Order: sequence, then C-alpha cells, then structure tokens
Amino acid sequence: MRLFVALAPPSGVLDELEQACAPHRAGREDLRWTHREAWHVTLAFLGEVSELSESRLEPRLQRVAWRHRQFPLAFSGAGAFPSPGRANVLWSGIAGDRQALAALAASVTAAARRAGVKMPEPGRKFTPHLTLARCRAPANVCEIVACLDPYRGEQWTAREIFLIRSHLGGGPPRYQTLGSWPLRAPDSEGLKTG
Ligand code: 2AM
Repeated sequence: MRLFVALAPPSGVLDELEQACAPHRAGREDLRWTHREAWHVTLAFLGEVSELSESRLEPRLQRVAWRHRQFPLAFSGAGAFPSPGRANVLWSGIAGDRQALAALAASVTAAARRAGVKMPEPGRKFTPHLTLARCRAPANVCEIVACLDPYRGEQWTAREIFLIRSHLGGGPPRYQTLGSWPLRAPDSEGLKTG
C-alpha cells in the first residue's frame, strides 16, 4: 500500500488559502489544481509499504507523537519545484516553528525506516510546503508565485500526525486515513528527534 504521513491544517486556514488561490485558477488549464479537501502538509512520503511494515509503523508513530510537542505554523509565501520558470509543482510555503516541523519530519522518517520501510527518496531534503497545483509539463508559474508570495495566513497549531493511504486510479488520488496520533510532549520536552 502507498503511504505517507502528514499534518492536516484546520479547515478555516485552508478556506483562507483557497480564497487567495481562487483568482489564479482561471485560465490556467495547464495546471492540475489540487482539491481543497485533500490539502495536507506531508511530513514523509513512504511509497509502497508492506502490511507487515505498516503494522510495525503504527506504534512507532504513536511514540513519535508522544515525544513531540504541538507547535505553531502558518502558510506563508509561495514557490515552485524545481523553479517558478519551469514548474512541476506550485506550492504554498510554511512559516512558524519550522525547526519543530523539520524535527518531527525527521522523527517520522526514522520511525518508518525502523519499521522496515524502504524510503523511496532517502536523500531528499525536507522542504515544508502544501502543494497547490501540479503541472503535466514544466510550466511558467512566475506570475502566480509573485502574486501569492506576499500571502501570510493565519497561525495554526500542528496538533496531530496522520498516517494516510493513497489510492491511485484515474483522476486525483483518494486519501484514506489509517491512523492519527496527537502530539503529546509537554512544551519543555519538545524538539527531540530520532
Ligand atoms: P506533496 O506534498 O508535494 O503534494 C502523497 O502522494 C503525498 O506525498 C503528496 O502530498 C506528495 O507530495 C508527497 N510525496 C513526496 N514525494 C513523493 C513522490 N515521490 N511521489 C508521490 N508523492 C510524493
């Protein structure tokens, strides 16, 4: 099964971001805009995972959540992978406690490895973002990035991690939540990795 671990931002925050994006959707049929209901912040993409590894993963994710505290984030700015001039992915950036976010992503990745997951892109640097659109062919999104870059969303709190199964088929992937675990470390104990 194809799995990833993510944060789910609150719906009010996503509504606000969706409104900011709305004016840019029209006339850009070359971009496949992601659906608001599926928006998430990926902590780690695990790729294909066996049932055995998935069953080992769940208690490890629970322990990760116990070791990390809740922390503040906000959508902020915009960008594109690999570049706005030849984009495959258009994204909204994330500000706030990025150190806590990176530490959480590192812990999730380590937990997955220990559960026997063979990470699909082991050397990939974690770049926090929310994917707004994907492009079939490299697209110039400089104008959209310039318009969305000043965007500063309302602050929200990362409270919980979600293990999500992605079902591929025709059309956009369907996401199924397999488990969720609240971040439970007290403030002073946060930011642990491993
Ligand atoms: P994204 O966060 O940029 O959208 C499920 O596919 C999630 O895992 C998506 O949110 C996706 O990226 C992320 N992901 C990271 N690497 C991926 C890869 N190589 N293939 C598919 N999804 C990947």
